[in-house]
Amino acid sequence: VITKVKARQILDSKGIPTVEVDLYTNKGMFRASAPSGSSSGMYEAIELRDGDKGTYLGNGVSRAVKNINEKISEALVGMDPTLQSQIDQAMIDLDKTEKKSELGANAILAVSMAACKAGAAEKEVPLYKHIAELAGRTNYGLPVPAFALISGGKLAGNNLAVKEIMVLPTGARKFEEALQMGSETYHHLKAVITEKYGAHGCNVGEDGGFAPNISSLREGLDLVKEAIGRTGYSEKIKIAIDVAATDFCIGTKYDLDIKSPNKSGQNFKSGEDMINMYKELLSDYPIVSIEDPFDKEDWEHVKYFSNLGVCQVVGDDLLTSNPKRIERAVQEAACNGLLLKVNQIGTVTEIIEVVKMAKDANWGLVISQRSGETEDSFISDLSVGLATGQLKAGAPCRGERVVKYNQLLRIEEEMGDLATYVGEDWRHC
Ligand code: PGA
Ligand code: ZN
Repeated sequence: VITKVKARQILDSKGIPTVEVDLYTNKGMFRASAPSGSSSGMYEAIELRDGDKGTYLGNGVSRAVKNINEKISEALVGMDPTLQSQIDQAMIDLDKTEKKSELGANAILAVSMAACKAGAAEKEVPLYKHIAELAGRTNYGLPVPAFALISGGKLAGNNLAVKEIMVLPTGARKFEEALQMGSETYHHLKAVITEKYGAHGCNVGEDGGFAPNISSLREGLDLVKEAIGRTGYSEKIKIAIDVAATDFCIGTKYDLDIKSPNKSGQNFKSGEDMINMYKELLSDYPIVSIEDPFDKEDWEHVKYFSNLGVCQVVGDDLLTSNPKRIERAVQEAACNGLLLKVNQIGTVTEIIEVVKMAKDANWGLVISQRSGETEDSFISDLSVGLATGQLKAGAPCRGERVVKYNQLLRIEEEMGDLATYVGEDWRHC
């Protein structure tokens, strides 16, 4: 049984406070922490912050911590940690709000994940297996990692409007090999960038991707294509982009020069122009997935583009992991891939439900990091246990990113012959 729940304020990878929980049972102590992103929308669960400008510039989470230590702790002590849905329901009942604004989704998520780890230990099974069992699944899958190689948008101080250029080693036979491919491509890219822009071009963004001062997506894609070419396994590595178009949408136009200091105002694109641009990029580069190609309210264009069936079209800011938005997108066939950020939902039980929804619709599924991460690798086990097919955890470097990838290495090793790297089945597994 759960004997104690104790929370504290720690720092995330951006140096901003977040919530960490130590949950105790007779089996020991289980720790989890909540990530935090910068692209928060009005449809996601609410992260509770103190708002006191004199402390951590208003970003403290002492109220969320207090809610755990006083209210959540009292409700959960005595409960069986294997009963995840009851634990999550107890917190939802205690919170009483639609977006978890009373206790804070950051408080609820950290406790939910810690309880899940405790549940696995109680059953003496690995975490990914416990998660699979909670979801009623019997097969697992090591996901294809989406390694961020170039950062732009809100993640970096360069002029690139688009948020991330990623590589997916879909042709690897094992996760271990995929990680090697990602790391080698990253280091070849470092050399390519140094040759073209000098060493300062290798400064990195918040997710660890390089942030050379390029201003066009093509310039970035050329660099990545060159780096992939140098690895020697070109055919096995595909490209994905997170356009995060909401961040450069002005009214009904898209301003790809939004971050350029000397912008001429010539580069305003309509939804149609964007579609044509994507079509050209898809024929010139091995792109297999595009995230948020349009503004989060531009359902018309995303729907049209997704229905062309030319690549995976992932909804991140479009859906904010919100069940109602996902339901609408499934009904309208507005996209064909879900980006799932655990803190936008708030409990393990609800995450499992949303994953089922996306799977039933035969969508691709990306479990995702946030730009503000911690040393918690829960999402790695989550992606294996729910066989999501894809895990986006940033560059193959920096502690808070590699902790996710390294955990997948350990899981693959532990599974031995039973381990399946989803590889070419990354979209539908
Ligand atoms: P965020 O970015 O965590 O800052 O929201 C990640 C993404 O957009 O995929
Ligand atoms: Zn995104």
